[in-house]
Amino acid sequence: MRSTIVIPTYNEAENIAKLLPTLFDLPVEQLKILIVDDGSPDGTEDVANKLKSSYPNRISVLQRGARLGFGSAYIQGFQKALAEGSECIVQMDADFSHPPEKIIELLAALEQYDVVIGSRYITGGQLDENWPQWRKTLSSFGNYYARKILRLSIQDVTGGFRAWRRNVLLSMPLERVRSNGYSFQIEMIHIAHRLGYHLCEVPIYFAERSLGESKMSFQIQLEAALRVWQIRMAYQDIRPNQVQQSDV
Ligand code: GDD
Ligand code: MN
Repeated sequence: MRSTIVIPTYNEAENIAKLLPTLFDLPVEQLKILIVDDGSPDGTEDVANKLKSSYPNRISVLQRGARLGFGSAYIQGFQKALAEGSECIVQMDADFSHPPEKIIELLAALEQYDVVIGSRYITGGQLDENWPQWRKTLSSFGNYYARKILRLSIQDVTGGFRAWRRNVLLSMPLERVRSNGYSFQIEMIHIAHRLGYHLCEVPIYFAERSLGESKMSFQIQLEAALRVWQIRMAYQDIRPNQVQQSDV
């Protein structure tokens, strides 16, 4: 199966230098990596381009030139990976919060499920103890709140480590996704759930980043909580039977 890992970056030069070789060491055939960079002033793009000679035809960089945001970086990255024929699309952060070796489990589970989620909140999953208390509290509250309002049974609806089957992303109305922060994750999983896809969670340990800085703020998380109501209203037209239609 042709797999692409899509990684949005903003000032992740040090992380990318370590992460890309780690990912290519994994036993995953035909693996490609797509970096979606927003004009990082720290030279993230140059680091990725330099690695291209060591891994010919396996790295591409989508350079957007300006800080257009996290959610739209993923949407553009997914569209490019689909256009290039990827069958499995993995999304992950650049900062090693998402354990690279778990990609093997995500891809294995994707043989039976439509979407696989690296989860901090199911048995066996864990959040770094060093995460600030305000982030832990907001994350667990945000998850609880979004799950209740959107009636999702997935435990980790804000996590950013996921694997998608090609046909799932192709059938989703990606052009309607407006969230740019944490609510992007919630919005995507809500659409997949409404379409009737089979979702599964694999436990992960979410480590706090050791290099670089987080781009997420208290404001972004609060905004996510408010967006949940809009997300619930926005996709009422989507029904599970559309899955069968778009699958044909
Ligand atoms: N292209 C682009 N543009 N990339 C961005 C932007 C942006 O505006 N903002 C952040 N990124 C990239 C970062 O460089 C990193 O690779 C990834 O997106 C995640 O950003 P972090 O700043 O490390 O986010 P976080 O650790 O606070 O949040 C993560 O965990 C949350 C769950 O608690 C993310 O995975 C969130 O999506 C997730 O909800
Ligand atoms: Mn992070």
